[in-house]
Amino acid sequence: MQGDAPRIPKQGLDRDRILSEMAARRKDDVKWQENRAFSLVFHHSDEHTEFLKAAHGLFFDGNGLNPMAFASLRRFEHEVVRMTATLLNGDRETVGTMTSGGTESIMLAVRTYRDRARKIMPWVKKPEMVIPVSAHVAFDKAGKYFDVRMVRAPIGRDFRLNPKTMARLITPDTIALAVSAPEYPFGMVDPVEDIGALAIKHGLPLHVDACVGGFILPWVERLGHPIPPFDFRVPGVTSMSADLHKYGYAAKGASTILYRSMDYLRHQLFVCVDWPGGIFASPSMPGTRPGGTIAAAWAGLMAMGEDGYLRNAELVMDTTRRFIEGINAIDGLRVLGNPPASVFAYGVSDKRLNCYAIADFMAQRGWHIDRQQRPPAIHLMVNPGHAKIVDTYLEDLRAAVAHVRANPDAALSGSAPAYGLMANAPMRGLVEKNVLAIMERMYSADGEIPHLDAEDGGGVPKPILTLMKLKTRFVDKFLYRRKEG
Ligand SMILES: Cc1ncc(COP(=O)(O)O)c(C=O)c1O
Repeated sequence: MQGDAPRIPKQGLDRDRILSEMAARRKDDVKWQENRAFSLVFHHSDEHTEFLKAAHGLFFDGNGLNPMAFASLRRFEHEVVRMTATLLNGDRETVGTMTSGGTESIMLAVRTYRDRARKIMPWVKKPEMVIPVSAHVAFDKAGKYFDVRMVRAPIGRDFRLNPKTMARLITPDTIALAVSAPEYPFGMVDPVEDIGALAIKHGLPLHVDACVGGFILPWVERLGHPIPPFDFRVPGVTSMSADLHKYGYAAKGASTILYRSMDYLRHQLFVCVDWPGGIFASPSMPGTRPGGTIAAAWAGLMAMGEDGYLRNAELVMDTTRRFIEGINAIDGLRVLGNPPASVFAYGVSDKRLNCYAIADFMAQRGWHIDRQQRPPAIHLMVNPGHAKIVDTYLEDLRAAVAHVRANPDAALSGSAPAYGLMANAPMRGLVEKNVLAIMERMYSADGEIPHLDAEDGGGVPKPILTLMKLKTRFVDKFLYRRKEG
């Protein structure tokens, strides 16, 4: 490190000065407080957030690593797990632990099933799990970490998994199945009952990823919305992940992994008896477990209460309905599939419209846009604050569609070509290499933060941009105009 690389100051600085510099650094962060983002932050209300901070602060120093030392934290964790198990229709056999988030919960489930297979499926040499294409990418991460091959079952035109497709992918090396309730990309709840029956037929465990749905679907169902059965009521479901830091409205770093019985959880627990540092036992991946997040998760559940969650679900569902009806009313756009709760995506139904150009226009109007691929789409997860901005969002979206319709070249400026290229390039290895290169720059000693839309074309090389331009003009001129003429 040279030059003015950050260093620990020789003498500690004034704490007030540090706090004001920190506050100033937030200026370029996503404007979730203005309800302009649809992911990353699940905000219930300012009052609830202040309460969570207070609860977190009380146990800021606590460490859930040693439950004997922090009996308070062990009790919070136990009660959080029991409350979640009851919510998801488990019984007294249902057991589990808190984790740091959805990814850790999923990783633990994958590792649990791998280790279970090592014990009771000795013929499996290369373990595989069958999961839908739409299941969260955390399964791929888990597969890489724990050497379990993820076999992805395709989904249909209705964005749902067909159980027959999944059945065909089961082999003697399959150690478990997984589905989502709902999945992240399109917000669809997989056919858990059918897959549960399939799991029983093949003697396989079944994980339901309810990371995003665990604390919203039960309330939506109680409000009378049709939600396909997705939890421990379904025979064959052996584990579930449900995130407190999403619709549970806890502080970040809080999720649960639940198993139908100790027969499964047993494989998750870690014990080492030979370490000079002492006999070590740990329920989940980290060593030190921040007391604040465990305590705040418990406090969040107690403060929201059933009535609070139900009121929240009512507002969230009403807001989602307004979004979906408004988007479907725009000529050229359509919500993908028929999502039953508050997570969904929309794309273009008119092929002349470029979804990523619409996304760029929305971003210029100050919205934080989550772009998807296969198909190109824009993703939303609705929270109560969004009730205030639905109309402005839809107004901007109508303007975006009108703009992109009138200017097909909009697809060739800003970040749209870069997203288009990354989504469609046939050589996925090359795309992966490019993304890794960006990450290496971000995590290099310079700590550069690249901006995809910093230059015209989002960094797409000029010759490729020219080819893309020619293609767009050709398609527009000869295919569409001719048809219309
Ligand atoms: C369905 C689903 N599973 C898992 C995850 C991963 O959760 P986390 O970001 O807390 O690791 C997400 C995140 O959005 C999700 O939507």
